[in-house]
Amino acid sequence: MSSTILVTGGLGYIGSHTVVELVQAMHDKTLEVPDKDLHILIIDNLSNSSTAVIPKMEQILDEYCGGKRQKPYFQYKECDIQNVEQLREVFASCVRDEKPIKYIEHFAALKCVPESCEIPMQYFKNNFIGALNLVQCMEEFDCHYIVHSSSSRCYGNNLNSTENDAVEVYNPYAGTKLCVDYMLRSFALAHKDWRCISVRYFNPCGAHPSGLIGEDPKYPHNLFPYIEEVAVGNRDIVSVFGNDFQTKDGTGVRDYTHVIDIAKVHIGVMKKFWEIQGHEIYNIGTENSYSVLDVISAYAKAIGKEIPWKFAPRRAGDIDFTQSKADKAFKELKWKATKTLEDCCKDSFNWKTMNKHGYEGKQ
Ligand code: NAD
Ligand code: WQD
Repeated sequence: MSSTILVTGGLGYIGSHTVVELVQAMHDKTLEVPDKDLHILIIDNLSNSSTAVIPKMEQILDEYCGGKRQKPYFQYKECDIQNVEQLREVFASCVRDEKPIKYIEHFAALKCVPESCEIPMQYFKNNFIGALNLVQCMEEFDCHYIVHSSSSRCYGNNLNSTENDAVEVYNPYAGTKLCVDYMLRSFALAHKDWRCISVRYFNPCGAHPSGLIGEDPKYPHNLFPYIEEVAVGNRDIVSVFGNDFQTKDGTGVRDYTHVIDIAKVHIGVMKKFWEIQGHEIYNIGTENSYSVLDVISAYAKAIGKEIPWKFAPRRAGDIDFTQSKADKAFKELKWKATKTLEDCCKDSFNWKTMNKHGYEGKQ
């Protein structure tokens, strides 16, 4: 019997890197699942991605697998998870093709905190109703295994955030992530054979070391994409939002985690399905943190070029500091971040230099 891993939002930043890691693990036979014939199906509505990433992912995989493809590395269908009919048809077509969806890697979401404060309804429709539709299809099609990309943003100022710490709705985006975590926890209580895992990422950054894939946002809201733009000369100067946070130099402190380390956690998570009961949460971070000024100077050092910056007013909703405690992931998933801040900066610059205007060469 064949089975499918459904990757929602698999053309986006973290999803595309994760699909590459999953295919590589399948090629190396290090993906520890009982299925003999496993397929990957990506769905995406292209709201923050482009199909131009597909040939880049295939190029990385051709190089890794020596060009020996017995079957496509993965398939892609356009689908909006807010539309339950479209989603149901994706599940039904996999059944018709005799490779039912058995596992879900759920990345599809809107993720911009300031935007979520302007249009909270759209965030809840996309992130919460989208996830509810997925859960509805899981019930209808007897699918029991799901990984949710949750966020560190449900912890507040904390340099030692553990999975048992109190969580709070600090903004509507974080609210959607917590609602999905609680929904999965609820369904795992109701259905004893469901296994649901929430991975809470801490500030993903960097890019694939090949420079072929990376983060290509429609607008650079986050620190790394903004520094990248300045580093390659698309923009003049980085605005450092605030200089009076309760940190060593007054600028915000975060736990920056390389996207490849984040993608690799999904290999261990797939194995964990066979060992847990119900719902589990894992923090995915480096247990280190840096200020905005630290990052700018590390970036400048890594690329041998000054990054101009200036102080600007605080951005609404920013917390002072955050850092993970990720020993649960180490103990239970055998996962530990391996990449340094220097790796993040070098890979980010390599990607941006090779794709100065993103996948579609947009200006
Ligand atoms: P991204 O925007 O690059 O990727 C999300 C993908 O989902 C995009 O390709 C987008 O087109 C797609 N998508 C969005 N809504 C959809 C819908 N209704 N139907 C189908 N596809 C849809 O974001 P990312 O950084 O790769 O984030 C992936 C996941 O990780 C998200 O769930 C995000 O909340 C979570 N996360 C991200 C970060 C971060 O800072 N990047 C941190 C913690 C958690
Ligand atoms: C980092 C620091 C900014 C841009 C975001 C999401 C969060 C989670 C992780 C999804 C802060 C400062 C930024 C700039 C700056 N994503 N900054 N100038 O806010 O920690 O978290 O990514 O789950 O939900 O909000 O990341 O990269 O935006 O900011 O000074 O141009 O850099 O003020 O101190 P953040 P970020």
